[in-house]
Amino acid sequence: MKNIVLIGFMGTGKTVIGRRLANRLNREFIDTDVAIEAVTGKTIAQIFAKDGVIRFRSEEALLAKKIAGKQDLVISTGGGMVLNPQNVSNLKINGVLVALTAPPEVIYRRVKNKKTRPLLLKGDLKENILSLLKERERSYKVADITIDTGAHSVDEVVEQICRYLSEGNII
Ligand code: S3P
Repeated sequence: MKNIVLIGFMGTGKTVIGRRLANRLNREFIDTDVAIEAVTGKTIAQIFAKDGVIRFRSEEALLAKKIAGKQDLVISTGGGMVLNPQNVSNLKINGVLVALTAPPEVIYRRVKNKKTRPLLLKGDLKENILSLLKERERSYKVADITIDTGAHSVDEVVEQICRYLSEGNII
């Protein structure tokens, strides 16, 4: 069966919701950031600092290619995964794309105490979020369905995704 691929901006809940969804559907769960840390032996922060963003994006692209040949997974992707159209094509080969969104203030609240996201560390956090969101808005529109996680609990979002998938005979 098709992979279920969660895309969306940092702090929209991809990892938490992905893990819960995988549990609920009895599927294997992959977080692309965690997978990249495993193959490189470095944290995301170390990759950005030592090897640079281009190296990180190429690891992401390799992973998207690999995922294209897999099935039955729930995958949560890093917020920049879908900026590369080739990754989108690869993820869509055997996947349904679910975009998660949240209002900027909710994203701010969720990411403000975490130091794990190199792209948000420089300058003013609120401004960074707003400008990146604007820059990327269109990239997340490639999804088959978009769900706002700002006003809903994890279980409610999982429920919405499951309803969509079963109504479309995807699961
Ligand atoms: C990134 C998002 C991060 C991680 C990296 C780059 C991005 O993942 O892949 O820091 O470009 O938006 P999360 O969306 O899981 O935070």
